[in-house]
Formats: sequence, structure tokens, C-alpha cells
Amino acid sequence: MELKKIGVVGCGLMGHGIVQIAAQAGFQVFAFEAKQEFLDKGLARIEKSLSKMAAKSVEKGKASAEDAEKGAAETRARITGTLDQKDLADCDLVIEAIIEDLDLKKQLYKELGAICKPETIFATNTSSFPVAEMGEASGRPERMVGLHFFNPVQLMRLVEVVRTEKTTDEVFATAKSFGEATRKVPVACKDTPGFVVNRLLVPYMVQSLLMLERGDATAADIDAAMQFGCGHPMGPITLTDYVGLDTTLSIVEGWVERYPNEPAFAIPEILRTKVKEGKLGRKTGEGFYKWDGDKKA
Ligand code: 3HC
Repeated sequence: MELKKIGVVGCGLMGHGIVQIAAQAGFQVFAFEAKQEFLDKGLARIEKSLSKMAAKSVEKGKASAEDAEKGAAETRARITGTLDQKDLADCDLVIEAIIEDLDLKKQLYKELGAICKPETIFATNTSSFPVAEMGEASGRPERMVGLHFFNPVQLMRLVEVVRTEKTTDEVFATAKSFGEATRKVPVACKDTPGFVVNRLLVPYMVQSLLMLERGDATAADIDAAMQFGCGHPMGPITLTDYVGLDTTLSIVEGWVERYPNEPAFAIPEILRTKVKEGKLGRKTGEGFYKWDGDKKA
């Protein structure tokens, strides 16, 4: 199936990046948000990222200032922000990147199933919820996949393409080709908790927080250990701030509820406390570290 028009629901931390890479790949993109202020914030993030990338390609001698600006302008022109869900009705692919709340996601898929054309493929960027349940809620489980991108979407090369038992070969192949068109490396995954990356990564982040909670080492030393001992670009506690403490908590809470006997799934008290305090990481300016915009303060 040929994709031309892409809808993205949610223009937050992940959604804005998905809008941007889809537009950069030449697709016409509708970015849907529930409120104008969220949409404005997401579009401003895209603007910032496009300027950064244009400046970088000039600096590296990959493009002239004129060509870099032309490329950014073309990307910008392919993006339409909307508060009207009906604008998604004739999209070929709708990717959902709203908060990690399964009930909210199911409600959204029910609504999308009712308004979108029958050929529309639905994809969720969920970190950890069962894709199949969202497919059932949409009323077209055979046209449902997971397209799980990584933060920051503009830079991370991977996309997990998740197929459920009902996803058709055609839908899976189309979703994979979308991943390739956005210049990501697609990996195929079954519909399992956390797919490949988060099943490995989140328990590791949790263990680092339990270590911090026990006082085994400081946050800075735990991070330095993994950065300099294992060559990771950032340590697990910085990464938790980067991903968002609320997102991390909702992933593990969901797992603990569904799989109470899996010892790798645990909820550090320190994570609950920070989230209660509204310290959600980089996006709120404080998590386990203090942040000044995109950088640690
Ligand atoms: N758009 C455009 N450019 C961006 C950008 C964005 N959104 N974010 C960062 N950049 C640019 C920076 O401006 C910088 O450019 P410069 O070299 O010209 O200054 C360049 O990218 C490198 O960034 P930084 O200097 O800030 O820092 P790093 O060199 O450490 O690179 C990183 C940043 C690529 C994020 C690297 O630290 C990294 O790979 N970290 C690990 C991230 C990771 O593991 N992500 C997965 C999280 S798990 C997940 O998302 C799943 C979910 O379901 C939970």
C-alpha cells in the first residue's frame, strides 16, 4: 500500500519528533493535538530541531545556508497542525503518540476506527502496552501495528515494528516501509511487554534507581560508571530523566499490575515520590538532576 498522508496524534516529546521525521521523508503530515497550547509547543519544538539540523548541515559543509533553509522550509510546509480529529479521516497511516494510559488509548482508537477510511493503518508508539488490545478497540485489529520510536526521535536510528497475531502481512510490510522511508532501522517484534528495547532497558533503569535508593552509589557515579565502563552515551539515571519519570513509572506500573510474578518488574519508591512532586525529568526542568533546557544544569 502506498502511503502519502500521515496523521500523528499527540505532539509531545515523541509525537513532535514523529511528525518531523515523517515530513522530512516527504509525507504530508497532519499533527493532531487536543489543545492549541500543546500543538503550539510541539510545533515550536519542531522548529527548534529543524533550525538545529539546518545549522549543523551548513557547519559540516553538507549543504549551503540557502539549501539548508530550503530543506527546512519544505519540511515545514508538509506539516499541518490541527485540533480537528476529522482531519485524520483520510490519512493512510495514523500514528498515535499520546500519554501512556491504555484506557485513553483505547478510547482514541475507538474514535479513530469510527472516522477513518477503511484502508487507514493504525500504529501506536506505545512503550509497553499490548498493541493487540488497541487493535481490538479500533474495530480493525488486522490493520493495527506498533511503530515504536526512540527519544530523541530525530536522532535515534531504530524503530520497532510490532505485529500482533492479527496484523496482516501487507500492513506489517507497509509499516516497515514507512520506518525505512524515515531513514530508521526497523526491527520486527512480537507484541510482548516492552518489545525488545524496553524489555531490556527499563529493568536496567529500575535497577539503577533501586541502587540509588539503597545508597549504593550517587546518581552521578552510577551514570559515570555506565558511561565510562560500558561506553553508553548517557548513564541510566540521566536516561530516566531524559525519557521522563512519569513515562518510566507508567511503564513499570503497567507491568507490575499485569505480571506480578516477574522479579525484573519493580517500582522504586524514589520514582513514585519524584513523580508525585511533579519532578518528571528534563521536560519539567528537574528529575533526578536539574535541567536547563535540553542540557543538565
Ligand atoms: N533535534 C535536532 N538535533 C538534536 C536534537 C533534536 N531533537 N537533540 C539533540 N540534538 C543535537 C544537539 O543539538 C547536538 O548538536 P551539536 O553536536 O551540534 O551540539 C547533538 O544532537 C548531540 O547532542 P548533545 O550534545 O546534547 O549530546 P550527545 O552527544 O550526548 O547526544 C543523544 C545526545 C543522541 C541523545 C545521546 O546522548 C544518546 O544517544 N543518548 C541515549 C538516548 C537513548 O537511549 N534513547 C532511548 C531512550 S528509550 C526510549 O525512547 C523508549 C521509550 O519508549 C521509553
